[in-house]
This record gives sequence, C-alpha cells and structure tokens, in this order.
Amino acid sequence: MSASHTITHPSFGQMSADRVIIFDTTLRDGEQSPGFSMNLTEKLRMAEALATLGVDVIEAGFPVASKGDFESVHQIAKNTNGPVICALARTGGAKDIAAAGEALAPAKRKRIHNFISTSPLHMKYKLRMEPETVLDLITTGNTAARNLTDDVEWSAEDGSRTEPDFLCRCVEAAIKAGATTINIPDTVGYATPEDMERIFSMLRERVPGAERVIFSAHNHNDLGLAVANTLASVRGGARQIECTINGIGERAGNAALEEIVMAMRTRHDQYPFTTGINTPGLLKVSRMLATITSFDVQPNKAIVGRNAFAHESGIHQDGVLKNAATYEIMTPESVGWSRSSLVMGKHSGRAAFRDKLKALGYGDLEDSKLNDAFSRFKDLADRKKVVYDEDIVALVDDEVRDHDHIRFGALSLASQSGKPSEAELTLHVDGKTVAAQASGNGPVDAAFNALRTAFPHEARLALFSVGAVTEGTDAQARTTVRLEEDGKMVDGQGADADTVVSAVRAYVHALNKLLVKRTRAEPEALTA
Ligand code: KIV
Ligand code: ZN
Repeated sequence: MSASHTITHPSFGQMSADRVIIFDTTLRDGEQSPGFSMNLTEKLRMAEALATLGVDVIEAGFPVASKGDFESVHQIAKNTNGPVICALARTGGAKDIAAAGEALAPAKRKRIHNFISTSPLHMKYKLRMEPETVLDLITTGNTAARNLTDDVEWSAEDGSRTEPDFLCRCVEAAIKAGATTINIPDTVGYATPEDMERIFSMLRERVPGAERVIFSAHNHNDLGLAVANTLASVRGGARQIECTINGIGERAGNAALEEIVMAMRTRHDQYPFTTGINTPGLLKVSRMLATITSFDVQPNKAIVGRNAFAHESGIHQDGVLKNAATYEIMTPESVGWSRSSLVMGKHSGRAAFRDKLKALGYGDLEDSKLNDAFSRFKDLADRKKVVYDEDIVALVDDEVRDHDHIRFGALSLASQSGKPSEAELTLHVDGKTVAAQASGNGPVDAAFNALRTAFPHEARLALFSVGAVTEGTDAQARTTVRLEEDGKMVDGQGADADTVVSAVRAYVHALNKLLVKRTRAEPEALTA
C-alpha cells in the first residue's frame, strides 16, 4: 500500500514514505470556475490562511492568463511564507513558463507547474498535435522550467484517459527533462478509484526514474468520486494530492481538502498516511472562502457543513449525550467547531460578542470590522428578541466581504400600495459620498434604480433571490444578486433585518466583484 522508497525532494528534502504533500489549488483551479473569482486582497487573505492551515504547496494562479493573475501570484510569492508557492504554465508556451518564473521570483520556495494534454481526444481535437510533437514539448517545456527552479511539476492533462504506453513515455520524458513531481489529473472526473490506483501503480512499476519523483493526484468531481479517487491514488503510490477548500473548482469541483485529510486521519487504519494540516483550522478557512466568494457551503457538506455535527433526532441526541462516539466518528473540535452555550441578546457586551465570534470560527477579525459588526449586532439585538448564531454569521460575513470601491451608506424609502415607490440612497464610492433618488415599481426596484443613478453601469440583473437567515418575521433577510456584463457573471450577497437594505448590500457586493472582473482577460484555449 505504501510507496516502497523514500525520496529526496528539492523543496521538502528527505520525505518519509507515509507523508502526503497537500497541494492546494483553491486559488487557481478553484478560482477559475464561474462565479468564484477573487481580488488581490482576498487572494492574499486566503493564501495566508492556507499557510496557517499547514498546506505544503499553494498553487497561486496562472500568471500568463492576465495581468491580475500575474500580480496575485507575484504578491503571494512576496508575502506568503511557509508553503512552496506554485504557478501554472502551459508546457508548450515559452511565454507561459517565463511569466511563471517572473511572477514567482520573490518566493523563498517556488514551483513551476507545467501541463499539456496527452489523451488521444485532447491531442487530436484540442491541441491538433501529433503525439510525437507533444513528447517534444514535454522535453523542452520541462527543461525550460527546470532552468528557472529546481522544483518542477509536470501534469498530463486528461491523464486518466491517456493510452497507458503513451502515458509512460510522456512521464519518462518529463522526468528526464527535470520534472520532480508528476501529476496525473482525472481532468474530466471520469475515472473510478480502481482506475486511479492502477494508473499510479503502473507508472511506478514501468517508468524508468519513477523512484526519483513524487507522483501526484488531481481529481475532478463530475461523478462525485474525487475524494475516493484521491484516496485510491494514494494507495497506488501518489504522495501529493491536489485539492481545494470546500471542493470548489471547474464544473463539479475538485477533491475537497478537508474531506481527504479527515478521511486519512479518522480512518488511519485504512490510510496510514500523515499530512501537515492543522485540522482545527479547517472550519475557519472554509468559512473564509465561503464569505469571500459568496458561495455558501451546502448544509450537509462533510466536515464543514452546518449540519455535519448536528443531531436532530432524539435518539441520536440521547446517544451523543451519553457518549459522543455513538454517533460522532470525529470530534467537532478536531475540525474547528466549538460547542458554545452563549445565548446572545441586547445585553451582551463586546467581550461576549468576541467570544461568540471565536466559537463561530471568526477569531481573528480585525478591530475595525469587529467594531462595525458589533454595532450592527447591537442594532439587530434591539429589534430581535433572540439573536441566533446564524444571524451573527450572516452579519459578520456581510461585514468582512470586500467592498473595495463601493460601500453602502444609507437608504430611505417611501412606499404606498398602488403607487410607485420612492428611494433615496447614499453610497460611498472610492471614499466620496454619492446620493441619488429614484422611483420604481416597488421598493426594491426603486432602490436598484437609485443605485444605477448613483453608480451608472450597464450590467444586467440576472438573478435576484431573497431568503430568511432564521425563522420568524423578525428574521434577517439574506439576498443574492447576480449581475452579468459582457459574458462575465458575478454573485453578490447581503444580509440585513431590512429586506430592501439586504438587497442593496447584495447588489453593491456584486458590483464590487464586477469591477474586479472587468480588469481580467482569459487567455486563448485555456483549459485546466
Ligand atoms: O484538471 C486538470 O487537468 C488541471 C491541470 C492543469 C492540472 O487542472
Ligand atoms: Zn483541474
């Protein structure tokens, strides 16, 4: 089951056979999926959080893709200490590899990750290249990358659907040219666990030089098998796994970091491997990502979903009270949940609020954000009898969302049945206060019209949905607004006890994200 040899790796030195390298690609494969884009500040916050979590490698982006991507890889390389910082490049693109090397220049430990498709389907229809040309590019690409850094990863895109003999030839060429990690992605999420275990065993057995490199797994979740495929890859001898927080990524996503790490920890009898992940930090990073991207984690998501440790049935509750092991296979605390008994209301002070935030996974909120969140909590507690944990999460998430350019100021509304509604809105745009008035067919329409007057833009409102954070008519509203402009789509979220204010906050959040997206361009034929 375990790799029979130990490896000396340029970045990690002597690796023991049971150590699995955690390669996080939330900021690259995760971020490139629709609606998940992040701005520079958000990426730096995530990179810092990933470093604290203990990931070994952070794939920070694809520098040739856009100026924004280049800059974020560069800034992460400069500011994030601890993990190896990695940049993606196409194997056939000399420009790609040079851009990756340049963006990574300030990193203490750096890796260039180059990739090219190797399956018959991709070579014929996507690349329009003969297999021998692909082999030549693997040699030149990896040689060029190796001239810039000792730590080079090569990926066989669509590797799981590649002819075994050709895959062996490609891997051999990459190793000869200096690659130190060989990644075999299941790019389209087609493989089964048996396939993945077999592919890695075969490569380790057949390819000359295999004993000198680390094999890596990168599984997509189109059949819901990404985590199972990753664990099977490790059984087959892979010692690096590529994964993302909350499993975000192209289409159905990538393998979820938190699930793989906890599977190896909880079922150590079956998967006797170790990682460097500080597991009590998992919930916090998951929350941070959900807040930044506005994509909530589904309630029943393993490890970090809000129901992952909730026991609703009386029989289960009774069992857990007698002995938690009856229905809990790992402790909530081991992944960052804490059992907080504090009930919050209008008499709760700042210290209790801070404790509550800690218990909810927001321990390190900056002082200014804490103050703003506390004052919003006080307003809410004046209006609502009971302030639930969900209320506090919604309110704090709203506070920590990035509003780089536009911030909500105030809204006043006049509405009467049978007549148009009138809205007066104040925004802060790049530090300047802008006010506008507008009427509309109902209060939300009037408020959005005022927003379009205060900050003129062409984006189309593609989705508007309102839900309640908790039960009761005094519950806070949680709104999602989707804007679309020139084929670019962004989602924003807002929460407030006033439904229209929550809608305006969500719209403002989406606009801020759109402004970031306007500065980014995708490269041609970028598939990853
Ligand atoms: O899914 C994929 O094939 C990729 C590669 C670039 C590693 O993301
Ligand atoms: Zn991928």
